[in-house]
Amino acid sequence: MYRQLIYPVLQSVDPERTHELVLRLLQGFERAPLLRKLLGKLFVVDDPRLGVEVWGMHFANPLGIAAGLDKNGVAVETWGALGFGHVEVGTVTPRPQPGNPRPRLYRLPADQALINRLGFPGHGAVAVHDQLQRHAGSRLVVGVNIGANKASVEAGRANEDYVRALEQLYAVADYITINISSPNTLRLRDLQGCVALEALVQQVVARRDTMSVRKPILVKIAPDLAPAELDDILHVSTAHAIDGLIATNTTVARPPTLRSRYRRESGGLSGVPLRERATDILRYVYGSTGGALPIIAVGGVFDAADVFARLAAGAALVQVYTGFVYGGPGLARRLLRGVLRLMDAQGLTSIAEIRGLSCGASSSVLV
Ligand SMILES: Cc1cc2nc3c(=O)[nH]c(=O)nc-3n(C[C@H](O)[C@H](O)[C@H](O)COP(=O)(O)O)c2cc1C
Repeated sequence: MYRQLIYPVLQSVDPERTHELVLRLLQGFERAPLLRKLLGKLFVVDDPRLGVEVWGMHFANPLGIAAGLDKNGVAVETWGALGFGHVEVGTVTPRPQPGNPRPRLYRLPADQALINRLGFPGHGAVAVHDQLQRHAGSRLVVGVNIGANKASVEAGRANEDYVRALEQLYAVADYITINISSPNTLRLRDLQGCVALEALVQQVVARRDTMSVRKPILVKIAPDLAPAELDDILHVSTAHAIDGLIATNTTVARPPTLRSRYRRESGGLSGVPLRERATDILRYVYGSTGGALPIIAVGGVFDAADVFARLAAGAALVQVYTGFVYGGPGLARRLLRGVLRLMDAQGLTSIAEIRGLSCGASSSVLV
C-alpha cells in the first residue's frame, strides 16, 4: 500500500518537507501509547531467533534506523513500534545549528538513492538530551551519534565538541558513535586521518573512562577510504579499544550508472548505488580484524537478502536509511520475515549463526 498509494503522494512534495511531515507524524505516535501499541501489532516481528547480543546489550533484532533519519530523537519509541531493534539518533552537535542552505536533499528514484548535503542541522545536545531522557528504560537500544559544530571544525576545535557532546549525551545513550565521515561539513573527514583520529579518539575515550558506567564507543567511517586509510583507522581503533565500527556513511563518488537528473548535485550519495562499496568495506574490516570488532553495516540495504548478506559478511547489526524512505513503514517487518525465511531454508536457528558465513576477504576489490 505504501509504495502504490502513499509514496507517490509523498514524492510530489519537496523531500525535506516530506521528511519533516513524516517525522511529525511519527512524533504524534510518540504521545499516543495505544496507537503505538496498534502499530506494534502490525509491524513488530516478535521472534526470539532474531535476537542479537552485542556489547553486553540485547537487541530484539539486528535491524536499526541509521543516523540522520531522527536527528533529534523525537520518535524513539515509534521506531520500536515499527519493528526496529535499535535507533541511532543524531548526528547531534553540542550547540544547535541550521545546517547548509536549502535545497540540500534530493531524491533519485530511478537509482533508488538520495543525495544530501544537510550539514548537521539540529536542535543541539541539550535539547536532544531532554528529549531522550523521557525514554529512559526504553525496550529499544538507543545509540547517539555525535559530531562537531561547523564553526568549531572551521576553528580547528572539533575535538572539544566531540568531548562536550559525549558529556552532554552520555547519560541518555546506550552507545555513542563518533561521526567523522559526513561529507557535508568541510574538513570533517580530515579527522579520519591517522594523527587527527588518534588525538580525537584518545580524548573521547579518556572522557568516557571517567564515567561511572562504561558504554561502547563506535566510529562511523566513510566508504571512500583506500585500504591504507582503513588500516590506519583499524590501528587507532584497536589501540584505543574502540568498541565497534559503523560501515559506512554516504559516498562522494558518483557511479557512472546513475540515471536521475539530480545525480550531479554535491553531497553524500546513499541507497542502492552504495550497496556494493559498503559491503566491500565491511568485508575488508571484518577480514582485517578477524571478526574481533563488532561492525554495524549500513549502505544500500533494501531487502532481506541484503540484510542476510551483510550479516554473512560479518556484520553484528544492520542499519537502514534510504531503504526506509523508499520502502515505508512495513520495511522492518518485510526484511525480518524474509531473514527468517532465509534462515529456515539454511537450517539456521539464530542470527549469530549467520555472522561471517561468507567472509571471504575482498581487500583486492578496494582500490
Ligand atoms: C538525508 C540523510 C541524512 C543523513 N544524516 C546523517 C547524520 O547526521 N549522521 C550520520 O552519521 N549519517 C547520516 N546519514 C548517513 C546514513 O546514516 C547512512 O550511513 C547512509 O545513508 C547509508 O545508508 P543507506 O544507503 O541505507 O541510506 C544521512 C543520510 C541521509 C540520506
